[in-house]
Amino acid sequence: MTNKNSAPLAIVVLAAGKGTRMRSALPKVLHPLAGLPLVGHVLAMAEALVPERRLVVVSEAQVGAAVSPWPSVVQELQEGTGHAVMQAGDALSGFTGDVLVLYGDTPLLEVETLTALLDARRSATAAAAVLGFRPADPGLYGRLVCDDNGKLERIVEARDADAAILALDLCNSGVMALDGGPLPGLLARLDNNNAKGEYYLTDIVAISAADGRQSVVLEAAEESLLGVDSRADLAVAEAVIQTRLRARAMASGATLTDPASTFLSHDTVLEQDVTVGPNVVFGPGVHIGAGSEILAFCHLEGVMVAAGARIGPFARLRPGTRLGEGARIGNFVETKAAEIAAGAKVNHLSYVGDASVGAGANIGAGTITCNYDGFSKHRTEIGAGAFIGSNTALVAPVSIGDGAMVGAGSTVTKDVEADALAVARREQRDIPDGAARFRRQRKD
Ligand code: UD1
Repeated sequence: MTNKNSAPLAIVVLAAGKGTRMRSALPKVLHPLAGLPLVGHVLAMAEALVPERRLVVVSEAQVGAAVSPWPSVVQELQEGTGHAVMQAGDALSGFTGDVLVLYGDTPLLEVETLTALLDARRSATAAAAVLGFRPADPGLYGRLVCDDNGKLERIVEARDADAAILALDLCNSGVMALDGGPLPGLLARLDNNNAKGEYYLTDIVAISAADGRQSVVLEAAEESLLGVDSRADLAVAEAVIQTRLRARAMASGATLTDPASTFLSHDTVLEQDVTVGPNVVFGPGVHIGAGSEILAFCHLEGVMVAAGARIGPFARLRPGTRLGEGARIGNFVETKAAEIAAGAKVNHLSYVGDASVGAGANIGAGTITCNYDGFSKHRTEIGAGAFIGSNTALVAPVSIGDGAMVGAGSTVTKDVEADALAVARREQRDIPDGAARFRRQRKD
């Protein structure tokens, strides 16, 4: 998507809050939602608006590193949202376009809403356009005080509000589009004479009004403005985003037998006519080719699947797995860093890791690639059309040539040539009448 708005755009993402209510060693904005950190969702949305300047205000270097290539600035002391935007002084120097302020912990907004907010500011030549909402519980949200024409006069923080203001149900989401020209001057006029002793960004509305510049409100749905402050909020946000991702997957032509038990990542790609059974989890980095079938109870992460493959039920495909067209992965099979070419089958109870399996090969039940010797990982190469008998251990590094066969129950430690038959097990010994004798002994 491109920025259709004519004026240049700067985006400042506020992400320096401590997030103490998460009770976590991980900074709040780095907690994942559909497999992407909260702030990553905000930045993806921001990128779609194609900003000319951009900055994330963070509280610590760990967050700064995580948001790269977005530049960041550390706000050493968190002295309020106004103070946070002051940290963007250098990044905004000389900038006279729109300044969009987003929060790093508010990941569910949609680009269309932000575009509408920018349009609202410009069409009213307002000092600020504020995204407002009417939450079920206004609680500690700032209240938007409007005049009789619906123009925004000021924003009053709940802790500074009297009963009449607290009774207002139109609240501040914190998302604002600001006129960049006068912004530095307005920020310089903020003070911290308020209940929290903070520099409130919200005060620029009243200051601008005193200067004769109006501000406007655009209302949005509460759901899209959910700010994540706690693990409970995170779970609510996850539910919302999963609902959206499932709807998107179905709209683009995938069948989800039980959408409520299909868990998707922000980047999951299900091509047309993919079918997903109940209780399937897609971690990040999964692309499933057209017409493939994922049966119930599978877990996939970092996996590329070509068209017409069949996976599961009960399969675990770990990062680096690539399945060719029409490949089959059956129940209780684990794969990792494994290229399994077109038409190959790993149908039952196997571990295939650090391996390549050629086209049309058949890997018998209970085959294990022994890829780890306690120190290093080693590769197993299985050629096209090879047949690996059941209960075989392939001790890597080892390669099985094209069209070779390995007898069931083998422990293969040496390479097997193309079209050879390898049998690496003790020979069978039969004791004539042995079973009958045994039974007679037990009877006596
Ligand atoms: C702010 C608004 C309030 C609004 C609410 C919506 C102000 C003064 N108040 O409340 O009207 O209803 O958001 O959630 O703006 N942050 C920093 N540095 C700071 C302080 C905050 O980066 O010094 C960031 C936080 O990480 C967060 C966002 O700003 O992403 C909002 O901070 P938070 O403390 O949650 O909101 P309030 O200031 O209480």
